[in-house]
Amino acid sequence: GGRRDLQGKRVLISAGGTREHLDPVRFIGNPATGKMGIALAQAAVSRGAEVTLVCAAIAPHLLTTLGGVRAIAVTTAAQMQQVMLDEFETADLTIMSAAVADVKPASYSPEKLPKRSLPEAIALEPVPDIVAELGKRKQPHQTLVGFAAQTGDIVTPALDKLRRKQLDAIVANPIDKSGAGFGSDTNWAVAIDSQERQQKIEPCSKLELAHRLFDFLSLNTVGIHT
Ligand code: C5P
Repeated sequence: GGRRDLQGKRVLISAGGTREHLDPVRFIGNPATGKMGIALAQAAVSRGAEVTLVCAAIAPHLLTTLGGVRAIAVTTAAQMQQVMLDEFETADLTIMSAAVADVKPASYSPEKLPKRSLPEAIALEPVPDIVAELGKRKQPHQTLVGFAAQTGDIVTPALDKLRRKQLDAIVANPIDKSGAGFGSDTNWAVAIDSQERQQKIEPCSKLELAHRLFDFLSLNTVGIHT
């Protein structure tokens, strides 16, 4: 498309899935590939934005399409939080599309644990809620958007997260339907803003969905108007 509505805007996007290691070879993770965040970065660049992409465990071959994007690689939620907090201050629009694990193993062994000494149960600790922390720091000129990957009813839990995490918009995204969710090249979603205006984005490529989301944001939130 020819829209340049993000001209000169600084856009910060997180993508992929964080990993919390028990030892060098075992981790708690999730199936996120980073494709949605990469599509958001591509769409933002083509609309004129200056884009920083914080990449959690994204396969390098997926990043080759990203001309003109500053990419920062992270693994854990703590690392992602550090980078996001640093970058957030100068961002006009931040989109948290990464799947962040909610917990991490309470201890880490720098040596690979032999099979016989693997624990029967793994004690877990919570990780920080990154987007909620950004919500607390958000200035009036900044726009903060989250994603909510859900099974079943996608809108009700997304509305709850929108309010609880002080977001300007949230993208409710089914992960139990074909042609949507983790690893898929296509997706569909319901975009919701802080006035609870909802817009269904019909199944389409993740790049198309990214553009539809930016259209929704420029129509519905004050933050990224010029
Ligand atoms: O995991 P949950 O469904 O609550 O995620 C909703 C939003 O919160 C997503 O944008 C996700 O990236 C973000 N999140 C986060 N830090 C966490 C968990 C989720 O920033 N620890």
